[in-house]
Amino acid sequence: MLGRRSEKVVRREDPAHLLVCGNEKGGSGKSTLGLHIATALLNKGLRVGVIDLDIRQQTMARFFAYRAQTASIKSLDLAHPRVETLAPVRRDRVSDVTHEERCALFRLLLDMRNDCDVVIVDTPGASTNLSDIAHSQADTLITPMNDSFVDFDVLGRIDPVDGTLKNTSQYAHTVRQARRERRRLKGTVLDWVVVRNRQSAFSSRNERKVDDGLRRVSMQLGFRLVDGIAERVVYRELFPLGLTVMDAEALYALDVCQRSSPSHKAACREIDRLVRMLRLPIDDEGRQRAQARQRLSQRMAAGLRMPEFLA
Ligand SMILES: Nc1ncnc2c1ncn2[C@@H]1O[C@H](COP(=O)(O)OP(=O)(O)OP(=O)(O)O)[C@@H](O)[C@H]1O
Ligand SMILES: [Mg+2]
Repeated sequence: MLGRRSEKVVRREDPAHLLVCGNEKGGSGKSTLGLHIATALLNKGLRVGVIDLDIRQQTMARFFAYRAQTASIKSLDLAHPRVETLAPVRRDRVSDVTHEERCALFRLLLDMRNDCDVVIVDTPGASTNLSDIAHSQADTLITPMNDSFVDFDVLGRIDPVDGTLKNTSQYAHTVRQARRERRRLKGTVLDWVVVRNRQSAFSSRNERKVDDGLRRVSMQLGFRLVDGIAERVVYRELFPLGLTVMDAEALYALDVCQRSSPSHKAACREIDRLVRMLRLPIDDEGRQRAQARQRLSQRMAAGLRMPEFLA
């Protein structure tokens, strides 16, 4: 069952917008952000597709299986996405596996993009053949980032004295390759959004240093830095129910959460703000932005000089 339409949303005639959650750093919050964004979009009435490329953990796929179970056992009227995973390919030659996986993912993407408004792809915390393809197909890439230089290292190494970017890391290189591939094949520009995760309520010296470092390198690497979500138990405790803070009515019905809970309201506001900051083409503002990106890529194709990071 696909999502019900509850809010007024812009109906897309183009293929679905492809949003990829990626970061080679394991445990940074890819699946957590992915499933919260997915439920927020479902509850807006959009048709959402989910592709879980983390073949080992399948966090997103399991979350939505729990959701279906909860809806059925508790007779709840929940919106559900179309969820797909790819079965592991077994062949003698590695090149055959790579080729078959590639074809299977392209077929699936084509099908889902015709079937949904937004497709969210969750990737594992390591570079894989499938994850690299997903990055090269993304319209929006979301990279969660904790306030830690350990996480920062996945983007690049910064000079401890003057804070400038010294080397770009493997993941930033992967994104650059994906951008090139996308531009070559589609002539469009990827929107790379680095999202702060587990933000603390109290600003610390470390947080300010990480924030400062991210702002400095954002122009060089070509990403937008947006405020994400705080560290909150509610972002993880609802997982076995397949629910998130965005499923308020279901949570009240199950008596899991009080209507007046300030922390629940604050969490909902965070997710709402994050979805707005992604500027997806699901409302007028997002559409205008997508058109502006399209115009930029046309000007680039016409031979205008462009910043190095978009090359
Ligand atoms: N903002 C948050 N508040 C509370 N817990 C969080 C938050 N973000 C992530 N977590 C928890 O941190 C752990 C790792 O998060 P998650 O599984 O989303 O990361 P991931 O990047 O998908 O990991 P992997 O690379 O292994 O797939 C999980 O236990 C999750 O519930
Ligand atoms: Mg994950």
